[in-house]
Amino acid sequence: MKTIMIHEMADHVGETVRIGAWLANKRSSGKIAFLQLRDGSGFVQGVVVKEVVGEEIFKTARGISQETSLYITGEVVVDERSSFGYELQVSDVKIIKEAVDYPITPKNHGTEFLMDNRHLWLRSRKQHAVMKVRDEIIRATYEFFHMNGFVKVDPPILTGSSPEGTSDLFETNYFDEKAYLSQSGQLYMEAAAMALGKVFSFGPTFRAEKSSTRRHLIEFWMIEPEMAFVEHAESLEVQEQYVSHIVQSVLQNCPLELERLGRDVSKLEKIQAPFPRISYDDAIEFLHEKGFDDIQWGDDFGAPHETAIAESYDMPVFITHYPIGIKPFYMQPHPDRDDVVLCADLIAPEGYGEIIGGSERIYDYELMKQRIKEHNLDEEAYKWYLDLSKYGAVPHSGFGLGLERTVAWISGVEHVRETNPFPRLLNRLYP
Ligand code: 4AD
Ligand code: MG
Repeated sequence: MKTIMIHEMADHVGETVRIGAWLANKRSSGKIAFLQLRDGSGFVQGVVVKEVVGEEIFKTARGISQETSLYITGEVVVDERSSFGYELQVSDVKIIKEAVDYPITPKNHGTEFLMDNRHLWLRSRKQHAVMKVRDEIIRATYEFFHMNGFVKVDPPILTGSSPEGTSDLFETNYFDEKAYLSQSGQLYMEAAAMALGKVFSFGPTFRAEKSSTRRHLIEFWMIEPEMAFVEHAESLEVQEQYVSHIVQSVLQNCPLELERLGRDVSKLEKIQAPFPRISYDDAIEFLHEKGFDDIQWGDDFGAPHETAIAESYDMPVFITHYPIGIKPFYMQPHPDRDDVVLCADLIAPEGYGEIIGGSERIYDYELMKQRIKEHNLDEEAYKWYLDLSKYGAVPHSGFGLGLERTVAWISGVEHVRETNPFPRLLNRLYP
């Protein structure tokens, strides 16, 4: 008999099929056992009736321990009470390997214990749902950018330059040279945009930040589009369309997962472009009105500031035109002001913080050279990057969306550690 997967059951109603599965949970009486089964593609209940399967198989079924691997044979029937919609009326049970004393029981465990057992914790219903949402966002990302004429380009992970400042770099030896793990693929994506027009990347990025917050990972995944001949305002339009597309895709393709996560989908259903925009100047004024005296014009926002601003909207909000002093060297100055740059951060609703950072890029050779000097960067390492503003430079813009923060927001999970399969956190490299 062919082994099918749980997600294929809808096509096999009334048939006897076999699935390979693990036991997630069970309850039983003297006559009937309910097995909660999972196979990675989904979760289904297997019903074992003593009168149907006989004494021996029933005894086996009742004795199965959590996370034991099995082959289960049975008839697929419609079950209107479960949100999955089907169950398996079991006729045979074969144990592949018994799992003894599985450490993660259905009771509550502390976070450190779960993080130490991340390799097993991933099997739980909630973590399964979060990983499926993550996968859907990645799928919808490729769909959106390919639909809009972007080409996927892969920037290097080992680099000699640091787009986002030199303070939080991971350094490694590259034979006789120093190399750094990429903080952002942006500078390479700018070169790629000059070759291919509109490009996007998706890959891991690294920040040796000593931050231990619910929004910070040491290794996180970023989607970085870069667009030739696109100015600041148009870049914001691409961003709001992209974010709307991924939210609507998750709503459409992950309804069971969102239900399992207890996500309030009415909040997500509202997420449609356009998004509101507020300037940094107005944001500072707004915060002062709200009683935040701890922040002055020129300071960067902290999490409480971002949350206060986001709370006024039920949509993600762009904060635009930040002071030049708190942003990286490559951002294009405002045409009429020398104190702010053409940039925006996109702040997610419900306190999830900044999910996108982006800007128009400088394309004037002399200005770029001057900025590199002002930021004390080694001009030798940026020679290639300067070539971009030397040979046929054009206005261009780009942005970076942090995948884990976006997954946290859309899934409604509190902390980014649950949005990456094996999160790298301050003081955590295990498992
Ligand atoms: O704002 P950031 O630092 O921008 C850049 O790296 C630009 N070079 C991107 C570009 O224009 N191509 O990072 C972009 C996003 C943030 O908005 C946030 O969502 C995420 O990356 N991010 C982090 N996510 C998790 N943990 C961290 N430590 C993060 N740092 C940034
Ligand atoms: Mg940022």
